[in-house]
Amino acid sequence: MLFRVKTIVPLALGLLLLHLCCAYGGITRKDFPNGFVFGTASSAYQYEGAVKEDGRGPSIWDTFAHKFGKVTDFSNADVAVDQYHLYEGDIKLMKDMGMDAYRFSISWPRIFPNGSGQINQAGIDHYNALINSLLAHGIEPYVTLYHWDLPQALQDQYNGWLDTRIINDFATYAETCFQKFGDRVKNWMTFNEPHTLTVQGYDVGLQAPGRCSILLRLFCRGGNSASEPYIVGHNVLLSHAAAFDIYKRKYKAKQNGRVGIAFDVIWYVPGTNKTKDVEATQRAQDFQLGWFLDPVMFGDYPSSMRTRVGDRLPRFSKLQSTLLKGSINFVGINHYTTWYAWHNSTRIIGVLLNDSVADSGSITLPWRNGKAIGDRANSIWLYIVPEGFRSLLNYVKNRYGNPLVIITENGMDDPNSPFISLKKALKDEKRVKYYNDYLTNLLAAIKEDGCNVKGYFAWSLLDNWEWAAGYSSRFGLYFVDYNDKLKRYAKDSAMWFKNFLTAG
Ligand SMILES: *[C@@H]1O[C@H](CO)[C@@H](O)[C@H](O)[C@H]1NC(C)=O
Ligand SMILES: *[C@@H]1O[C@H](CO)[C@@H](O)[C@H](O)[C@H]1NC(C)=O
Ligand SMILES: *[C@@H]1O[C@H](CO)[C@@H](O)[C@H](O)[C@H]1NC(C)=O
Ligand SMILES: *[C@@H]1O[C@H](CO)[C@@H](O)[C@H](O)[C@H]1NC(C)=O
Repeated sequence: MLFRVKTIVPLALGLLLLHLCCAYGGITRKDFPNGFVFGTASSAYQYEGAVKEDGRGPSIWDTFAHKFGKVTDFSNADVAVDQYHLYEGDIKLMKDMGMDAYRFSISWPRIFPNGSGQINQAGIDHYNALINSLLAHGIEPYVTLYHWDLPQALQDQYNGWLDTRIINDFATYAETCFQKFGDRVKNWMTFNEPHTLTVQGYDVGLQAPGRCSILLRLFCRGGNSASEPYIVGHNVLLSHAAAFDIYKRKYKAKQNGRVGIAFDVIWYVPGTNKTKDVEATQRAQDFQLGWFLDPVMFGDYPSSMRTRVGDRLPRFSKLQSTLLKGSINFVGINHYTTWYAWHNSTRIIGVLLNDSVADSGSITLPWRNGKAIGDRANSIWLYIVPEGFRSLLNYVKNRYGNPLVIITENGMDDPNSPFISLKKALKDEKRVKYYNDYLTNLLAAIKEDGCNVKGYFAWSLLDNWEWAAGYSSRFGLYFVDYNDKLKRYAKDSAMWFKNFLTAG
């Protein structure tokens, strides 16, 4: 018999892959420079679950997620996608797609349940097992030290990031990780999205610990949006600098790794070509990427922040500034979307918000004259604008002297709906097109514009728990069935990546 099942299945799969590849111009990893790293990204709280196992202490996200009304679908990440137990299978999925690397975060309260003090050996054992399994499958670990799950004990003791005591506790935690895992982990990110954690946690209050004073304190009990974000940002930067310094002095020579930060960056384009809107667009970027990348590159905040925030923006001492300047071996970029920016010409924003957004004097929105900047994904903030990616990479090249860049996140989400069948959910054409178009722009930025980008991580390997959006949003290359033992199923985008990475 000619058409046995064994023949038909690979044939059908082959045709599908052919379709997926060539419907979109057929870029493959071979078009990228040799040694370019491809991987997927994740974070501890969004993936692990097992929040009460093996001595893990509570984090500020456990507390926040369990408060009524903070998460749109009233869920929490007590179980998440249970990668704490299922990591072996997940690593096989990465391997099967042909991925080179995996970005995950270490949960601080697994290592130090009380934030500081005694080390929890079971936490060390877990990450040793994960790292060893990745390496055994030829997958390089890229480790984030802080992906938002601060030990609750430190919030209770001294208000976490609002107090300078956090700097020493973070440095000790970071050094413990370098000590325990640095013989095998060569790529570290101190922080994930310092700007998001600062603004969402202490300015608009939509993420843990949920502090704010905007909108006449309608949504938050404690907080001051006009001052706390700057204090928190400052302590985050000093914590980064301390960890970088420890690595450089005590571990770099022996372990030969590198330390970066993963920044969240929306690309902003001027809403009109009027000078004041063009200037406001730069200010919006200063108050986002510049807030954190300028200090680690140049030793101080952007001048537009100094001018506009005045005394509410803390100052770096000479020593701190020296420690910060150059404290980065690679610039991690989490990029998803592009928005418009305009100059603020209304009083109301200052009065209602009186926060870092108002300070920037710019208004940013994903639409103009009632028309969206691009096709929308599921998240209300995520519009698809592939060419914005290339512009952003050129901006980083030009402003910061073409530093080594790794794309630490990029992706889009679909809704999680009971009315969408599994079969339909796996046909994620929009995601396939998103990846094809964003990677095509990345390739142009590297090859045509000379941007120094050496790695790319898709967000995310699996559908997972999307913070305040809970399980309502699906960002995965793999579908997770929340109704059936968290089983994983390859979406078309996983097949697309497999073809992209292994073809020819
Ligand atoms: C954490 O703190 C509590 C209360 O102070 C204490 O009982 C416990 O032993 C501490 N745990 C560790 C691992 O240090
Ligand atoms: C601004 O100018 C650029 C370049 O000339 C043009 O492509 C763009 O459409 C203009 N934008 C607006 C909003 O007019
Ligand atoms: C904004 O907040 C700061 C700091 O709390 C305060 O001094 C100032 O008066 C506020 N401004 C407005 C317009 O409410
Ligand atoms: C926004 O613009 C108005 C009018 O120019 C000004 O009065 C207000 O102070 C500005 N607000 C901020 C926060 O820049």
